[in-house]
Amino acid sequence: MCGWGEVRGTRLAVWRWVASIPRDPSLEASFALKRDPYGFISERARMLGSDVFETRLLLRRTICMTGPQAARLFYDPRCFARHGAAPAALRKTLLGQGGVQTLDGDAHLHRKRLFLELLAPARVAALVRRAAHEWERAAQRWKALPRVELYAELQPLLARAVCTWAGVPLAESEVAARTRELTALFDAAGSAGWSHLQARRARARSERWAADIVERLRETRFHAAEDTAVHRIAFHRELDGALLPPRIAAVELLNVLRPTVATSVYVVFAAHALHAHPDWRAKLAAGDPAHADAFVQEIRRAYPFFPAVPARVREDFVWRDLEFRAGTRALLDLYGTNHDPRAWEEPEAFRPERFLGELPSPFAFVPQGGADPQLHHRCPGEGVVLELMKQALRFLTGSLDYTVPPQDLAIDRTRLPALPHSRFVITDVRPR
Ligand code: HEM
Repeated sequence: MCGWGEVRGTRLAVWRWVASIPRDPSLEASFALKRDPYGFISERARMLGSDVFETRLLLRRTICMTGPQAARLFYDPRCFARHGAAPAALRKTLLGQGGVQTLDGDAHLHRKRLFLELLAPARVAALVRRAAHEWERAAQRWKALPRVELYAELQPLLARAVCTWAGVPLAESEVAARTRELTALFDAAGSAGWSHLQARRARARSERWAADIVERLRETRFHAAEDTAVHRIAFHRELDGALLPPRIAAVELLNVLRPTVATSVYVVFAAHALHAHPDWRAKLAAGDPAHADAFVQEIRRAYPFFPAVPARVREDFVWRDLEFRAGTRALLDLYGTNHDPRAWEEPEAFRPERFLGELPSPFAFVPQGGADPQLHHRCPGEGVVLELMKQALRFLTGSLDYTVPPQDLAIDRTRLPALPHSRFVITDVRPR
């Protein structure tokens, strides 16, 4: 484990051997990463026989890290920082600028508390109630349709639910356009060419929309209850007592709306897993909450969503006799760590039972980041994701009959986020 005592001690110990981080021999690995975003780090790490290796991505030296021990190091804020870590392509699409993801130290902890409070369990339960209403509405519509593409249908369903819950005004006439924009922020962010440009345009438009909502609320031109996300964000005060500039408040509001709509990806995986493991359908229908928990956790471990997260080496240090140089970009392999054979028995097998016992270490199970969400950058929305996934499973096993017609259900792992090629189509939908 890295620590300042050890780092400084290492530098004073003149005779201690310090090696360079093993290098991936390719001159530029961006194309290889694009071809295999989920396997790139773990496979090269295995080839080089090291949990950390250096490569060049987007023309910058980048340290790639995989496995639970590397994850523990990655989440040590003395060793890694987030400011300036995310590539421009992500800042201009998925993340925006100046949001909680880019903060370090006390500024991060203070902003993070805002998210943890507005996503507390009672608030998550309120969101799930909104979503239940939307599921019921959608099911009535679906029964009249010849085919339902679940991924596309879930996006407006979740957008309506999260906007109503967050206190964000959303007229029915706006739903389609806003849903398209919120979806482009996560669905097109990792693509190239035209789709990537669409994601950039969606970022600019959504930020203007969200900033306008924040300003109108501050000017009391509409009402939102004090415990709603929009109210909490609009009136959040920074450590110096100042309100957030509207554009940054917009980024934070989108940090709630966008990923809730992105939960559509996990709900599609839930439908996919239910179809692929029919023995679990009866178990889930029986209603044992431990089974539902285990099933959704195994989906988050086994299915590919976020491949990796970026950081930056904060100051020079040495770990396992390897030298990390200040300023170098680092990437922690989330997918590979969730499949690391040192932490997971038969990692490629889908086995929800593995979650029925002891909870895994927060450095081995990292689908939404690792370590402690109160203190580190780990996702504050895991409660939302778990509850929305379990709700979807309750709906798919208890409230809806449907047919899964022949289709290409193979997961396309070259796109970000990965999805079944068919986006999961159902037919003959019959609400019970
Ligand atoms: C849809 C499934 C989701 C996935 C796969 C996901 C994944 C992640 C990951 C990998 C991180 C970065 C962790 C790190 O940097 O160490 C993150 C951070 C974050 N997520 Fe999520 N997330 C999801 C849903 C949500 C939801 C529903 C919300 C809020 C409603 C949310 C809000 C955030 C925020 C605000 C951060 C930044 C936290 C920080 O920097 O301290 N996410 N998420």
